[in-house]
Amino acid sequence: MQKNNLLSILVLFILLTFSCSDKNNKILTNSSAKIEQKVDSVLTLMTLKEKVGQMVQYNGSWDVTGPPSNVSDEEKFEKLKNGGVGSMLNVLSVKATREAQRLVMENSRLKIPLIFGYDVIHGYKTIFPIPLGESASWDLEIIKKSATIAASEASAAGVHWTFSPMIDISRDARWGRIMEGSGEDPYLTSKIGVAKVQGYQGEDLSINNTIAACAKHFAGYGFAEAGRDYNAVNIGEYELQNTILPPFKAAAEAGVATFMNSFNEIDGIPATGDKILQRNILKEGWNWDGFMVSDWGSIGEMIAHGYAKDKAHAAEIAANAGSDMDMESYAYEAHLEQLVEEGKVDISLINDAVKRILRVKFKLGLFDDPYKYCNEEREKTEIFTEENQTFAREVAKKSIVLLKNKGNLLPLSKDLKSIAIIGPLADDKDTPIGNWRAKGGTNSAVSLLEGIKNSVSSSTKIAYQKGVSILKEEYPKGRGFLMPLNFNTDDKSGIPAAVNAAKTAEMVVLAIGEVALQTGEGRSQTNIKLVGVQQELLEAIYKVNKNVVVVLMNGRPMDISWAAENVPSILECWHLGSQSGNAIADVLFGDYNPSGKLPVSFPHNVGQEPLYYNQKNTGRPFSPTHVTFSAYRDAPKTALYPFGYGLSYTTFEYKNLILDKNEILPNGEIKASVVITNTGNRDGEEVVQLYIRDLVGSLTRPIRELKGFEKVMVKAGETKTVNFTVNVETLQFYTINKKWEVEPGDFELWIGGDSTTSLKASFKVIE
Ligand code: BGC
Repeated sequence: MQKNNLLSILVLFILLTFSCSDKNNKILTNSSAKIEQKVDSVLTLMTLKEKVGQMVQYNGSWDVTGPPSNVSDEEKFEKLKNGGVGSMLNVLSVKATREAQRLVMENSRLKIPLIFGYDVIHGYKTIFPIPLGESASWDLEIIKKSATIAASEASAAGVHWTFSPMIDISRDARWGRIMEGSGEDPYLTSKIGVAKVQGYQGEDLSINNTIAACAKHFAGYGFAEAGRDYNAVNIGEYELQNTILPPFKAAAEAGVATFMNSFNEIDGIPATGDKILQRNILKEGWNWDGFMVSDWGSIGEMIAHGYAKDKAHAAEIAANAGSDMDMESYAYEAHLEQLVEEGKVDISLINDAVKRILRVKFKLGLFDDPYKYCNEEREKTEIFTEENQTFAREVAKKSIVLLKNKGNLLPLSKDLKSIAIIGPLADDKDTPIGNWRAKGGTNSAVSLLEGIKNSVSSSTKIAYQKGVSILKEEYPKGRGFLMPLNFNTDDKSGIPAAVNAAKTAEMVVLAIGEVALQTGEGRSQTNIKLVGVQQELLEAIYKVNKNVVVVLMNGRPMDISWAAENVPSILECWHLGSQSGNAIADVLFGDYNPSGKLPVSFPHNVGQEPLYYNQKNTGRPFSPTHVTFSAYRDAPKTALYPFGYGLSYTTFEYKNLILDKNEILPNGEIKASVVITNTGNRDGEEVVQLYIRDLVGSLTRPIRELKGFEKVMVKAGETKTVNFTVNVETLQFYTINKKWEVEPGDFELWIGGDSTTSLKASFKVIE
């Protein structure tokens, strides 16, 4: 036995030395064939215990993002030394990752490096807009670049792996995690997910400023019933395939290194224990070779779901179903060896899981140099740089959506005599950092007040009044802070002073909405109006000054019906990140002409949720002659602000929608073009969107589906032609035959500036 050990260590030593000597030769280090050889060689050296160790992920206790365990740091250190852990999350800083890595490298038998994961969701320390906000830019280049910057900052601090992108389709404003994704549409979410994967992972994972990405949550998490986090999901196979899975397939095809499964069940089966999802669809069907990490404790949670009788049973189900790494359930380390010995989990499945994990570690170059991300110099100089701030401002301004601008109140002049800046979020330096803020510091954003001060001329008089607060004073703002039921204050004592300031000002900018921690994990709400006494403040201000610009900061679609009806201008500013105030000022004063478009529908009221543009028609769509059609009696059927919507300081006219053919075979191609003119007097960018409808299918099809978009700059007075290609990708869906197919029949196609555009053409797919 001892002799065997010695031999193994010698082989591993030779193997690793071999890798090191190839270190500068990228083709060799990265060639998949070489990596496969190395993975196989390491695997043959491993005992069952060591294999199980690779499948275990521990939290570092430094930053707890889920229910804490009762395993002490000392016990964790012992496990690391014994090769009992393959990965850690929330170990932050070069010093900490180096130390944890050292424990493994200096003590464990096989010295297999740890992979360190962290939720770098919208930036590491330079914070970009929350993902829902950034998605409103519809600008894949800047989205990719913000991921590149996030990866470079995170890797400079020792992080190897981000738990992003979150590509859960969500159509329910009540769900707090809607802020983490790209909204309601599978096509837009797919494109954004791929851009992020490319941004994080770059061309080559072994370079030390790229990190592994993680497509999450697999699958269906955004469809939690009634928008209540972790709730059951009840959808059929076709909805799963056509709506939820496409972004995941796109991420897998883009080479995302890892996936994370999800907390929810779908139709009675918890995703973590779902073999069809994880093995049949993802690993076999899509031929994906990365590894699947469980969500925090999701293996153990199968007990509470009523799907596993105890942890051993949960481990058995999860391992068989294809969950490769156990995040914080402590189920694999306790039971997997025995389950293999009892024949309840086949060793081939363990080997498969371990190979997947080792493969990613090899691709990252960790076997070449386990400390390659541990560079104190980089940590000091490459994080939160001036350059990154400049780019964060760029992304933030492109994420703003102009919802209303009656009488062209905006943009404002920089020479206004006086502006009243009012509202609970006007001088808030914390809210714009948003939830899932990684190392984004508390109160580290440029506030709106600061941004405006940086912009206006010295002759403009600024009067600031908070008016009201959102949170009760005693509630702290910390990351783990759990929002109590009535967290909002009802103190109106600041309203009179705010009204006074508004009375005498030429213009009022009113910053209202949601604080950072109102959205995110575990932050579902049934009320999506302005909470607390913000509505009272809004109405009181509007009463004395009609020149009101509402600056809305929020992480979910909100019910802003009153503002939409009354105030002249509304800017949707999400939680925009480190440069929030400067970016908003860029738009307020016209240095940047807004170009954002909603990635999610805004309802008239919460009762319409879930609300999305790509609905089914039903058997009883609107009828002017009958009462009994599918609608609400007390609210419109459509959105207050629809998907794809957003104004500009200029206007665009669309005409001449032309298809080069009106009939194609299922594998044929149509060129669609449209002519767009900037009819205003400012240059502006417009997101030109293409939608289709398949009129009759083997399954009912949505009334519209986004199938293409292009963001174009059109100068004032200029006319441009925008071209799209309609092909198999555009027309296929997962049909009754359980295949992706184009079905012959009639189609409609629209091109325009939002999902309600009426510029339409028709064509036919023939047999
Ligand atoms: C979340 C994941 C996250 C993980 C680690 C979980 O609670 O659902 O999205 O990546 O914690 O922090």
